[in-house]
Amino acid sequence: MPPRPYVLLSCATSADGYLDDASPERLILSGPADLDRVDEVRAGCDAILVGAQTVRADNPRLLIRDPRRSARRAARGLPAHPARVTLTATGDLDPRARFFAPGALRLVYCATPALPLATKLSGSAVIIDAGDPLSADFMLDDLAERGVARLLVEGGARVLGDFLAADRADELNLAVAPFFVADPAAPRLNLRAPSPAGPMTLAETRRVGEVALLRYLLGPGGPDHRFLRWAVELSRLCPPSDSAFSVGAVVVGEDGEVLATGFSREQEEHDHAEEVALRKLAGRNLGPDPRLRHATIYSSLVPCGARASRPVTCVQHIVAAGIPRVVFAWREPRLFTDGAGAEQLRAAGVAVTELPGLADRARSVNVHLTDGPSS
Ligand SMILES: NC(=O)c1ccc[n+]([C@@H]2O[C@H](COP(=O)([O-])OP(=O)(O)OC[C@H]3O[C@@H](n4cnc5c(N)ncnc54)[C@H](OP(=O)(O)O)[C@@H]3O)[C@@H](O)[C@H]2O)c1
Repeated sequence: MPPRPYVLLSCATSADGYLDDASPERLILSGPADLDRVDEVRAGCDAILVGAQTVRADNPRLLIRDPRRSARRAARGLPAHPARVTLTATGDLDPRARFFAPGALRLVYCATPALPLATKLSGSAVIIDAGDPLSADFMLDDLAERGVARLLVEGGARVLGDFLAADRADELNLAVAPFFVADPAAPRLNLRAPSPAGPMTLAETRRVGEVALLRYLLGPGGPDHRFLRWAVELSRLCPPSDSAFSVGAVVVGEDGEVLATGFSREQEEHDHAEEVALRKLAGRNLGPDPRLRHATIYSSLVPCGARASRPVTCVQHIVAAGIPRVVFAWREPRLFTDGAGAEQLRAAGVAVTELPGLADRARSVNVHLTDGPSS
């Protein structure tokens, strides 16, 4: 069974937390810059999920707008647009909705009693019996089996609230618009139970045009697990290679601020993820960034202790930068070099934490190397 998809929740709210107003017209909360940011996020996902009521009320296209992004996906062997996914207890959806337009795979997860009504959609989408009552866990497992590694959930209120309350989300991107709705009849993030995972981990705050983007990491295990899962997700962005691993790295300061991120081959052909992240920080300072003296570097693969492509290993980069702590997911299989990175780091006085529960996820990005004919 492949690992469950990484679940990224994305929505825009008013400054008082509303997702829409109560009028029949859709309230536009994002500006052009934020719509473009969401387009980039969409392009990095395998599927986009919205609830049936959003299909009915907003009639969204759920397509990637920028053709260059679709072209980049196609060049990587991906469909030009992510799959569109919805879930319904009633099966009451109009096959003429834009959701069902050609251009992307359409999946409808339907509660068993509604299957007869949903047959009218069978020419326009794959209809999947998701149980009675509909099981979101079944849906996530089924999406994983269909090759969905990253799922973007774009609403609406109930679906977002259910994912949060059930601790099924890994990330929340919240774009806060600079106005109020102030209408209790309007939909807002609707958690029917408090999230069991406790406070979210704030990973980023950014101005995007007129909206404030808040990027939170969620999920079990606290900040170490959450930042490491993010590092694994970054590894999916690596340009493909038959001779080097795909790795992601996140450098986090003492106060939880993300100082830099990197992934393999992000800037140059032989780049390692940790090296890229540290290079981004070095570029802005004369010596090593002083914040690194109290930072943690999260890496999906143990930092390399031996390397064929360049003279300086990632262990040496980390030690030279003065980083006191490393957290990693996957021990390097001895494919390309005789890596003993964890032991070398410990010998240099760096605290090393291994989270093997995330190793399968880090490895799954590299199966073409580990399960290929050369291994
Ligand atoms: N601001 C934003 O970023 C944003 C984004 C998206 C949507 N929105 C807004 O959100 C509003 C819609 O939100 P909403 O809460 O009314 O609807 P929703 O979350 O889009 O969809 C809810 C519907 O999805 C199906 N569903 C969800 N969970 C299910 C489960 N566990 N089992 C079975 N069926 C399930 C049901 O469909 P059936 O009714 O068919 O059974 C349910 O009625 C709209 O006003 C829209 O504009 C805002």
